[in-house]
Amino acid sequence: MTLLRRGRQRFDIFCSPCHGRTGDGHGMVVERGFPAPPTYHQDALRKASDRHFYEVISYGYGAMFSYAARVPPADRWAIVAYIRALQYSREAPIAELPESLRAELNAEPDR
Ligand code: HEC
Repeated sequence: MTLLRRGRQRFDIFCSPCHGRTGDGHGMVVERGFPAPPTYHQDALRKASDRHFYEVISYGYGAMFSYAARVPPADRWAIVAYIRALQYSREAPIAELPESLRAELNAEPDR
């Protein structure tokens, strides 16, 4: 499985319940009253380093718990790569994405 596919699969399992599948912060859990996370599609988080995302997953952030016990380091980096792809796809028209990235984003999620 490629890094991005792995990242997408792990993101959909561990992050999308709160952050939503597109990272806009409207996950299912939020609909039920959990504090809403910020959207990834804002300047501060577009400019944040890969390491910042890695550390948020590792140590938690404010109201968000640490995922260190459930997401091993290699998967944290895969998730970071996938979040970058989500951010990039929001910024760029999909037609301008490299073929390989477009294929990853359009592919059916792995089960
Ligand atoms: C149970 C809900 C929940 C889950 C699951 C969750 N988060 Fe969060 N996340 C939050 C909330 C709420 C915040 C805002 C926390 C605050 O500001 O107090 C947040 C904030 C963040 C931020 C923003 C940090 C910043 O600098 O503003 C990032 C990045 C993030 N989460 C990544 C992830 C990733 C990656 C995953 C999956 C491994 C994940 N989250 C899973 C609820 C969640």
